[in-house]
Amino acid sequence: MNTGRDRTIAQPGDPVDAIDTPALVVDLDAMDRNLAAMAAFSLERGVRLRPHAKTHKSAWIARRQIEGGAVGVCVQKTSEAEALAALGVADLYISNEVVDAAKLARVAALAARVRLAIAVDSVEGVDRLAAAMRASRAPIDVFVEIDVGHGRCGAAPRDAAALARRIRDAGLRFAGLQAYQGRAQHLRGVQERRAAIEVAAEAVRAARAALDAVRIDCALVTGAGSGSFVLEAASGLWGELQCGSYVFMDRDYADNEAMPDAPRFEHALFVKSQVMSRHADRAVIDAGHKSHAIDSGLPRIWRRDDLVFANGGDEHGIVRAQEGQARLPTLGEALWLVPGHCDPTVNLHDTMVGVRGGLDRGVVERLIAVDARGALG
Ligand SMILES: Cc1ncc(COP(=O)(O)O)c(C=O)c1O
Repeated sequence: MNTGRDRTIAQPGDPVDAIDTPALVVDLDAMDRNLAAMAAFSLERGVRLRPHAKTHKSAWIARRQIEGGAVGVCVQKTSEAEALAALGVADLYISNEVVDAAKLARVAALAARVRLAIAVDSVEGVDRLAAAMRASRAPIDVFVEIDVGHGRCGAAPRDAAALARRIRDAGLRFAGLQAYQGRAQHLRGVQERRAAIEVAAEAVRAARAALDAVRIDCALVTGAGSGSFVLEAASGLWGELQCGSYVFMDRDYADNEAMPDAPRFEHALFVKSQVMSRHADRAVIDAGHKSHAIDSGLPRIWRRDDLVFANGGDEHGIVRAQEGQARLPTLGEALWLVPGHCDPTVNLHDTMVGVRGGLDRGVVERLIAVDARGALG
């Protein structure tokens, strides 16, 4: 239930100084530049862009991505798909396995309303999906997910042919391969990421060879994230990129060695916080790990490299000076945090505050609802 707290965080037209804290703030100018850079990259390289909406969980941002040239968006969960579809996002790919009968009935119902695709990685998964789709008779595109070295979901590449045949025999449409190497995204060095995606490419080649051997056409290979997409795009194998985090660019991604030829994405997601307690050796801010996820490490304080952030618990952050004589912020002063990991940070908030004109002197343009917040099922 939204108790109306979003109205107390900020209102359109407010100066940034008036945004209540802690608040999740989107620098809309930086986000627009990120969206445009990725759209231009995919156009130039001749690959489709289907950004992952699990990052922002917002129908407004998804629609902007599509208006900017994306073919649709990915989601990870049935309920995420439902939330975005209800708000006008009409081309969705659930890039994940769904096997529960009740959820599959919802998938089938959704397929009757929007253009929908889904991933499978087992014979039983295909059979369960087929049973649900038989009842609705709605069309759905089915991708076979192969494990390309991540060690999470995904069939062995050589099993792609049997799965594709099962999909066809069940009267469903085999759309291609899902090949996402999540663990490669945050390998710090370019060489390490290159090596991981070369292994992933081998897996894709093996799956394609298995499909060729039984004369099943693989129309599309889809995958890639914000850390590796340049490599997938250059491989000649992947035809669609699923990058998500590029839209906001969190601290963890900024710590990666930059890939040559990759667009330079900017930080666009911040937690605005305020100093609530001040001591000789530290300032305490009102943003703890209920306002930003810490699974990928702590936030960085934006434009204050002379300060270090330490975890102060659920509701607090502790700020100290780096070595030397940094000026500690004063009581009431605002500090902007760049979250360690954008996706789970967004999921902690009902609303993002969209600012135009920068974080120093900008103005609130809009409140952006996190429409699929908590849509985990
Ligand atoms: C299947 C899939 N595709 C794409 C992405 C997007 O990756 P990123 O946010 O690193 O760009 C993810 C993220 O976890 C994912 O799970």
